[in-house]
Amino acid sequence: MTTINALIPAKIGHLPPLWQISVRFPAHFTLFPSAVKLLSMNQPVTHQTLSSTTVQTPDLKTSIGKLEMANPVMTASGTCGYADEYADFAPLSKLGAFVTKSISRQPRKGNESYRVVETRAGMLNAIGLANIGLERFVTEKVPRLAAMNIPVIVNVPGWSVEDYVDVASYLDEHLPVVRGIELNVSCPNVKNGLSFGTDPIRLGELVAAVRKRVHRTVLIVKLSPNVSDIALTAKAAIDAGADALSLVNTFTAMAIDIETQKPVLANETGGLSGPAIKPIAVFMVNRVFRQVASRHHIPIIAMGGIQTWQDAAEFILAGASAVAVGTALFVNPAVHVDICDGLSGYMARKGITRLADLVGRCGIPATPN
Ligand SMILES: Cc1cc2nc3c(=O)[nH]c(=O)nc-3n(C[C@H](O)[C@H](O)[C@H](O)COP(=O)(O)O)c2cc1C
Repeated sequence: MTTINALIPAKIGHLPPLWQISVRFPAHFTLFPSAVKLLSMNQPVTHQTLSSTTVQTPDLKTSIGKLEMANPVMTASGTCGYADEYADFAPLSKLGAFVTKSISRQPRKGNESYRVVETRAGMLNAIGLANIGLERFVTEKVPRLAAMNIPVIVNVPGWSVEDYVDVASYLDEHLPVVRGIELNVSCPNVKNGLSFGTDPIRLGELVAAVRKRVHRTVLIVKLSPNVSDIALTAKAAIDAGADALSLVNTFTAMAIDIETQKPVLANETGGLSGPAIKPIAVFMVNRVFRQVASRHHIPIIAMGGIQTWQDAAEFILAGASAVAVGTALFVNPAVHVDICDGLSGYMARKGITRLADLVGRCGIPATPN
């Protein structure tokens, strides 16, 4: 058995405690060998590959509601801490936006170990929303986030409507550095143990309650993929006033140790992320785009297994205006730079000058009812 630190470059061996504990990998594993191979193949397509045609430099600018971004690549919540942990390893100011780990009103210790396990093409985590709480976030993390000079989106979890409203309204009213609020609606509700994100009616009530108190920042609802039709929860969130949708969160999954004959994760189940989920996430993004988002002009932030610019391009063609990278940061914390370079080369090769012209190209929006 080895820890994640043995699997990543020496320079990254001092990653924050989240990565240093609770990680279980068989000793012979490298973290996503296929991912490493793919990333090493990820040569950006340069503008020189074009023949005689002169193409304007592609413009990667995009917007999520009133939030304008220099490029479409952001971090996925929970995989890049609060920025200071990664700042020495990656040029974070080159991100289109930074999305923080979930911040709850009170600090949370999270689940017992093991909290993370590698699977064949992904990562299974049950961190339990461990976080430092709103008060310490404001005093310890906000100055560093502000210094990055890129838009900051704060991910907000909750176990009751009041939890979400309290934190979201505080961020909206008191922290100018926060430009967007992403509601993590995959948390279990204290009343019945079901997550808000799997029930369109309860999701609508939650989003409407937060909407009433959030005016300055962009309100993003992060959809759970653990539903039979994600277009239904997407519609509920939009009808209740969401400015944007992000999808997908992790898929509920499980790994069993055949020697102990017990679940590997202390929490028994966890959320699956990484390349294993990418094609399902692409489908879900395209479905939400076709069925609801495009006709309401609601932008989508897509995530789920993105490792390369080709992956990002797929999601944009499926309907995303921006993309977020999570699990791939464990392999390459600067992957966003490669993705932007690759997208830019791809657009030049295709003669496309504006990122907006790529969004949803593969999916013809369904006719409005
Ligand atoms: C270790 C880990 C921690 C995560 N923590 C959060 C979190 O705090 N809040 C949240 O909304 N999503 C969280 N996620 C989900 C990611 O933001 C993302 O939706 C998911 O991992 C899919 O993207 P990926 O395949 O690129 O990782 C976490 C994912 C991982 C792997």
